[in-house]
Amino acid sequence: MSLTSFPESYWLATAKIPEYETLRESVKTEILVIGGGISGITTAYLLAKEGKKVILVTAGRLIGGTTGYTTAKITAQHGLIYDEYIHHFGEDKARLYYEANNGGLRFIRETAEELGIECDLVEEDAYVYATSEEQAARVRAEHDAYVKLGIPGELTDTINLPLKVHAAVAMKDQARFHPVPYLSRLAEEFVRLGGHIYENTMIETIKEGSPSVAISTDDFEISCVDIISCAHFPAFDSGFYFSRLHAESSYVIAARTPWEDLKGMFISADKPNRSIRSVTYGGEKLLLIGGESHKTGQGICTIKHYEALYAWAREKFGATDFPYRWSSNDFVTLDKLPYIGQATKSKPHSYVATGYRKWGMTTGTAAALLLRDLLTGKSNPCEELFAPSRFHADPDIKTFLAQNADVAKHFIQGKLEWLDKKTQELNKDEGSLVRLNGKKSGAYVDPDGNLHLVDATCTHMGCEVEWNSGDRTWDCPCHGSRFDYRGQVVEGPAVKPLKNLQL
Ligand SMILES: Cc1cc2nc3c(=O)[nH]c(=O)nc-3n(C[C@H](O)[C@H](O)[C@H](O)COP(=O)(O)OP(=O)(O)OC[C@H]3O[C@@H](n4cnc5c(N)ncnc54)[C@H](O)[C@@H]3O)c2cc1C
Ligand code: FES
Repeated sequence: MSLTSFPESYWLATAKIPEYETLRESVKTEILVIGGGISGITTAYLLAKEGKKVILVTAGRLIGGTTGYTTAKITAQHGLIYDEYIHHFGEDKARLYYEANNGGLRFIRETAEELGIECDLVEEDAYVYATSEEQAARVRAEHDAYVKLGIPGELTDTINLPLKVHAAVAMKDQARFHPVPYLSRLAEEFVRLGGHIYENTMIETIKEGSPSVAISTDDFEISCVDIISCAHFPAFDSGFYFSRLHAESSYVIAARTPWEDLKGMFISADKPNRSIRSVTYGGEKLLLIGGESHKTGQGICTIKHYEALYAWAREKFGATDFPYRWSSNDFVTLDKLPYIGQATKSKPHSYVATGYRKWGMTTGTAAALLLRDLLTGKSNPCEELFAPSRFHADPDIKTFLAQNADVAKHFIQGKLEWLDKKTQELNKDEGSLVRLNGKKSGAYVDPDGNLHLVDATCTHMGCEVEWNSGDRTWDCPCHGSRFDYRGQVVEGPAVKPLKNLQL
């Protein structure tokens, strides 16, 4: 059966990632880094460079998490955010956020050059554009924020896109790249410096102490002094992260279009959001068009999001076909600043890095630089700003209450709603929640007509998963876990698969 259970990412399809072994015996190390995405690989590499003894483990393949499903713009322009940060946190902290992300961009550029990595790194300006007067006012306010913070930028009403634009704000000299060759090389350098990588090694339990012990699903133990979770969603039970983060899904299509010479990277201020960049790796030029963000596991039938992007690409760019499409999610914190640092004040040897709000190329790299400094006793200006233990009253508390009410709503709704769909009514390649022996279950009929049944209760904290028709996954509306149609974990925080059921 030629069925892709998870859609094909351009990045993973066009570049090869070296293979690493799976953990097959208990081991000891100084530092354990969990997570084979941009933040985990960069952190492991930087700590090994400092002479630390480090093990890096990741649940699936290296770069197989959100980093393999990104759009890979490397920019400190994170939508319209600096005016908002100035209002919430003041100019100094807003500037610090910019500098941390600009430092992430600089690090990627310099490292690619120093190691001679061919990763299609192209320098370009980044733009946020508005196609309505309402959003144009926000774009102008953002430009004012750039001026206050000293960010090199420009306000304009003409950009290199076939759209009628009311205003756009440019951030100068940003970049885009192919993340796979860049991170594969960093991983190789990490191993050359004495580090060990274990793929397909899911950490199921962590006992924080001295030493700390992380236990894999195969019952092998890694004992260590410090544990760093770069696992996208924190791997620790402590810290109440399930109530302080929410997952947002986004969709990307790669389009063949007559637009050969797109100059710049673009993101809309208006909804539905649209993100555009070009990619030239492997000789062929494609446009990557992203957008349609929504809270994971919530919203319309997911295939409609891809259809909306296809229609927009045809109308605006004359797109002819779409060789790749994919979606993934990223975490957003209560106050929209990442959580990077000690997981909780009471556990000094446990660290987290998460909440990049879909800008993890720079923020995930900034996280690695901060974690390196924290673990080697160096001072870093961002320590306080990104400390996970912070709790700003405004806008945190309101968001905290709303977010948890939302999780509770989905938890209760999921338990009470009953469905009329029966397994016999499902067509080929269709999935739905069904009633099976009085219990809500997930059913999917594959293209060969085989029925796959799973328990629809998410193994993280018990919410009910929803069928994602666009990617053929079961997605959890509470904290964003995703499972393939057979119930295997695609993205955490869940670490255990959905239970398989029989008729
Ligand atoms: C559609 C989309 C487009 C985006 N575009 C951009 C962009 O243009 N620019 C930008 O800067 N950012 C972008 N982002 C955001 C960026 O891709 C992410 O912020 C970043 O990749 C997150 O990296 P990470 O290392 O935190 O997580 P991941 O890449 O998800 O890595 C985490 C790893 O941890 C592993 N793991 C999880 N739990 C466990 C466990 N218990 N045991 C062992 N391993 C575990 C997972 O298998 C995974 O491989 C985008 C995001 C999306 C969804
Ligand atoms: S991801 Fe938390 S309950 Fe499903």
